[in-house]
Amino acid sequence: MTTSGDPAAQIAELIGLIHHHDERYYGFDDPEVSDSEYDELVRSLRRLEDLHPDLVRPDSPTERVGAATLGATFAPVSHRVPMTSLDNAMDIDELTAWGERVAKGLGAAARQTASGQLGQLGQLGQLGPRSEADGALDGAGASHRPGRPDESGSPDPIVPPSARFVCELKIDGLAMSLRFEGGQFVQAATRGDGRVGEDVTANVATIAGLPRRLPAGAPEVVEVRGEVYMSLASFEALNERTMAAGQPRFANPRNAAAGSLRQKDPKVTASRELSFWCYQLGEVVGGPAFETHRQTLDFLDSLGFPVNPEIRVVDDLAGVDEFCQHWQEHRHDLPYEIDGAVVKIDDLGQREQLGFTSRAPRWAIAYKFPPEERTTILRDIQVSIGRTGRATPFAVLEPVFVGGSTVGMATLHNQDQVRAKDVRPGDTVIVRKAGDVIPEVVGPVLALRPAGLPEWRFPTTCPCSIHSELVRPEGEADTRCVEPSCPYQRVQRIIYFASRGAMDIEGLGDRTVLQLSEAGLVRDPADIYGVTVDQLLQLDGFARMSAQKLVASIAASRTRPLPRVLTALGIKGLGPSASEVISVAFGTLDAVMAASEADLATTDGVGPTIAASIVRWFANDINRAMIDKLRIAGVEFGNVEVSRLPQVLAGKAVVVTGSLAGFSRDEAEAAIKGRGGKSPGSVSAKTFAVVVGAEPGASKVTKATDLDIPVLDEAGFVALLESGELPQTT
Ligand code: IVH
Repeated sequence: MTTSGDPAAQIAELIGLIHHHDERYYGFDDPEVSDSEYDELVRSLRRLEDLHPDLVRPDSPTERVGAATLGATFAPVSHRVPMTSLDNAMDIDELTAWGERVAKGLGAAARQTASGQLGQLGQLGQLGPRSEADGALDGAGASHRPGRPDESGSPDPIVPPSARFVCELKIDGLAMSLRFEGGQFVQAATRGDGRVGEDVTANVATIAGLPRRLPAGAPEVVEVRGEVYMSLASFEALNERTMAAGQPRFANPRNAAAGSLRQKDPKVTASRELSFWCYQLGEVVGGPAFETHRQTLDFLDSLGFPVNPEIRVVDDLAGVDEFCQHWQEHRHDLPYEIDGAVVKIDDLGQREQLGFTSRAPRWAIAYKFPPEERTTILRDIQVSIGRTGRATPFAVLEPVFVGGSTVGMATLHNQDQVRAKDVRPGDTVIVRKAGDVIPEVVGPVLALRPAGLPEWRFPTTCPCSIHSELVRPEGEADTRCVEPSCPYQRVQRIIYFASRGAMDIEGLGDRTVLQLSEAGLVRDPADIYGVTVDQLLQLDGFARMSAQKLVASIAASRTRPLPRVLTALGIKGLGPSASEVISVAFGTLDAVMAASEADLATTDGVGPTIAASIVRWFANDINRAMIDKLRIAGVEFGNVEVSRLPQVLAGKAVVVTGSLAGFSRDEAEAAIKGRGGKSPGSVSAKTFAVVVGAEPGASKVTKATDLDIPVLDEAGFVALLESGELPQTT
């Protein structure tokens, strides 16, 4: 906000901004800001309007549901029952406050009913632990607090009301109304501005899993409301196709679903594989009477509509809280995206008592998860050099709080990824941090690109002090620094040597290795063993105690078992799993060094690529000299304290597709084979599970889904390697 002080000017600026973003979102399916940033603008506006009710303007976006159908190319459809939006709760406190408003609303209605001698509220119970502070909300059976008058000044004569809640997932897609007359599907319409939407019947008719005809005996008119969405598998497959055709990726499944519904040719929509969950009954003529929302959902299910299986009915706010917390933690276990939970009052009579505000029902609320996507400025693109010389481009970002932490850097993987995303320093970019996944730059907001911003070019020299050459071998995705004496590679090799998965030297992290290297004390991993307490005392941040401790933990690493030493050498493709099987097969480092490529390649779990890489590494004089130095320094290579890996995958075929963050392709294969499993290149009915990484092969994912074979992400794969069991949530 640039306007300060004057609330009317602030309101005008916020309204202008919100209108602009509405147009991008609804008119062009091409938003410039993330949902959470948009929500924040609306909330700021609402806060100001609450403080200055006289300044609420008739054109304020807080007074309506969504934008009108801007640039519509589809016929308008008037909704007979308006399609309202939902109010949001951004945290559990706001959810509790809603629960308290509901209780008050029902309490007031109950008092009116009682004083009119019209009857009683049926269900009794407790609204929730946090509500107990309020005397009007005491639980079932609890007598009214003595001496506390109700609003009319006399003791409350009725039993306080309670409510049951239906908890649903908030599917991240587009609201849709489907109309059936005489059992036939006749119309599908988007929400639009809540009163008038767009006719997208032909496109919605392509969605698999929707009934075309309702069973005999269905009501004369049934209008069903729900969310059209794109599953993650279909989204990835679509992006794979668009990228192969040289077109930009869709930023997220919701945008992809919106774009797919706006197609002129329903065949294109059909190819996008949209899906639908219904969550609400609209207009019904000639149907049964319902008392609860749950009954309406069961009715929709009986008519053949897809009803989400995760819906739960709970008795109090503690149950609501539990549902919301559970899905906030497990949102990424689902094969589609959700951005929150929706909590609805179950009792339809109570809903009627609560009614609507000008834009949303009082009987429901959307609990929004913290945002996982934000926009920020891409300050620069730099490359980092790994221990094998791989040059990985990464984004330097204006720090932004997203997915629970502040993100200032994000990997861009390789040259092709930067080109495909077409991100340029100076762009506004969408940054995503989902769950435990490393932060990612989704893409640029092209509408905000400054004129004349040049395309980024991959550097031709290494950023290290000797500026060695960077080369990209023909047919490979990675660009590398091929100079073994590159100081950046040297430092990375030492960091890797000392790391937790390798020699596990406590206290020897990135910072200390850099310090030691800059002080000229270490040039290769073997030099670590010569570092003294006195040398460490010369470095910033070391006192006698910490220096002694580090020297002791370096000394202790001399007796690490062979698999750790093999891993620590940093041979390309040779991770902990392959090191383990090789150690078991060969017993000593000398035996590994003497083994031929053919010997190594026949070891179960070691492919020809790793075998060739090992032989190449030991053939190099510099590397052999380093092994001699390690030997002289007292590192014991013969100590094969390896337990055979538990054969938890015996006889099971696990297919891996796409790239995983923690395993190279060979390592993943070695991890499976080392546990007795197989890792074939294609999916068949015999496949036990398919592990899907970044940019997977679409056909494998589709085949797995078709054959009903469990699909796992990387976390699921790690769990599978540990136990041999499929994780529960898949
Ligand atoms: S109920 C009056 N239930 O969220 C009730 N909406 O932010 C209206 N949504 O417009 C909607 N999942 O597009 C409802 N289980 C769910 C939902 C859901 C996703 C969307 C829907 C709605 C928006 C409100």
